[in-house]
Amino acid sequence: MYSIFEPFDHNGLSLKNRIVMAPMTRSRAIDNIPNDLMAQYYAQRKDVGLIITEGTAPSPESLGYPRIPGIFSKQQIAGWQKITSKVHQNKSKIFLQLMHTGRIGHQDNLPPNEKLVGPSDIPAAGTIFTDTKGFQAHSKPRALTEREINALVSNFVQAAKNAITAGFDGVEIHGANGYLIEQFLHPHINNRSDAYGGSIERRAKLGIEIAKSIAAEIGPERTGIRLSPFSNLGDLPNYDKEETHATYVYLAQEFNKIGLAYIHISLNPNIPKKTLQHLRNTYNGSIIYCNGFDKDSAQKAIDSKATDLVAFGRNFLSNPDFVNRLKEDNTLNEVDYSHLYTPGSKGYVDYPVFRLESKKTQSA
Ligand SMILES: Cc1cc2nc3c(=O)[nH]c(=O)nc-3n(C[C@H](O)[C@H](O)[C@H](O)COP(=O)(O)O)c2cc1C
Repeated sequence: MYSIFEPFDHNGLSLKNRIVMAPMTRSRAIDNIPNDLMAQYYAQRKDVGLIITEGTAPSPESLGYPRIPGIFSKQQIAGWQKITSKVHQNKSKIFLQLMHTGRIGHQDNLPPNEKLVGPSDIPAAGTIFTDTKGFQAHSKPRALTEREINALVSNFVQAAKNAITAGFDGVEIHGANGYLIEQFLHPHINNRSDAYGGSIERRAKLGIEIAKSIAAEIGPERTGIRLSPFSNLGDLPNYDKEETHATYVYLAQEFNKIGLAYIHISLNPNIPKKTLQHLRNTYNGSIIYCNGFDKDSAQKAIDSKATDLVAFGRNFLSNPDFVNRLKEDNTLNEVDYSHLYTPGSKGYVDYPVFRLESKKTQSA
């Protein structure tokens, strides 16, 4: 049995503890360039084993949200370099999350000559924030051609190479939460009749090609993927349960063949136990669980061998010293929900670290 605070070492992924900071978009990257404020934020989280960054665009047309960073220009690479070097001073590891938002986005969030793309032209219901006019309906995407898909895979590979140049320990491919790769997996949104649509294998082809091509370039031990089986995020309705199960078992088999460093599972109550068990049994790399964990539930999940590592989201954004607070069972700061995605330092780098005096006062 391992404590969540003990070091971890498996297939080339070695961490000072089993606690991971979950990827969280914070929309502080003005002009989509990582900056000193972001470096301060990531460097404040000193005690964490592995940081997975906020979703980062591998190419201009994947900038669906305002002020999210990219990793396709020299300036962006230079901005990230400052961040990775600060994180490494803390002896933490840092993976860059590569997020192609696909049909989740708005034309006003994209650079002038870019268009929103997806597996089909089916728009997502609901709205998305823009800096120009506030919340607006998602734009209608254009269905990618097969040739554009080849270019898109190359963009992901170049982005992963750029991430290594910027000093990252690896990349996490965002295959979860209703973004491009999950849009391709989904039989209602993916209505294609070419090599990327139809059967489970064809719908999974994009995610597998991206994973295989990145792993071939930077090494499978530096490539992870995030999945969210049975999630409805991004206006993805439920479809046949057995088919969904089979899709994720197939993905796990393929990712195992590639030798990916980890599968990061964004849990939700709809995932059947058997799907999680199959993923665990089929795949030999590391598993990361995330969503709604606290110290006890994280430790139990590791003790049960269901997962190797546990990621925490909101608690990390509101507690720069989260690991230390967990260790010492100190109270946690509340999340300031009104400043999750606002530019500037408020609700970003101004959360206080725990002070012993306040603990004494509490227990007095
Ligand atoms: C502000 C915010 C931004 C998020 N951005 C991302 C993201 O960029 N990529 C991603 O995969 N998940 C994202 N998530 C989801 C988190 O990674 C995580 O799954 C979620 O917060 C649940 O974990 P928790 O209960 O520990 O907070 C975000 C969550 C929050 C709160």
